[in-house]
Amino acid sequence: MKRTNLILISALFASGFLANAHAGVIDRATMLSNTCAGCHGTNGISNGETPSIAGLSKEFISISMRDFASGKRHSTVMQRIAKGYSDADIKAISEYFSKLPSKAPETNASDKHHGHSH
Ligand code: HEC
Repeated sequence: MKRTNLILISALFASGFLANAHAGVIDRATMLSNTCAGCHGTNGISNGETPSIAGLSKEFISISMRDFASGKRHSTVMQRIAKGYSDADIKAISEYFSKLPSKAPETNASDKHHGHSH
């Protein structure tokens, strides 16, 4: 009886652990990035004064975050925010936003001279 329980528990623990470890990676990036949505808009697309960050390169986002944190790049609020994240967090956040679609370029439809000039 005891022995069966132990085997069952370890089997459950092992599968649960793997499932959580996998979900944990996704959830952490999503969770960290949701914090940014308050200012940078849902999915990193802002409707206000705050710049949109969806679709920026991950290099640009991570460099910006580090430069904001160190004060190398001037900011009003980003220094305080950027300081709260580890390098691993910044990497996860940068990858998350770099994969999101950026705002559709509205100028393309009306820009008749762009591209096919002949
Ligand atoms: C309290 C509002 C607020 C929150 C929360 C916030 N930001 Fe910002 N962010 C700003 C503002 C305002 C700027 C413009 C620079 C400044 O004045 O700080 C900015 C600028 C940026 C820029 C530079 C964009 C560009 O085009 O140069 C990046 C990248 C950025 N934020 C990433 C993030 C990330 C990633 C998070 C979440 C971890 C985040 N921000 C959370 C307000 C915010």
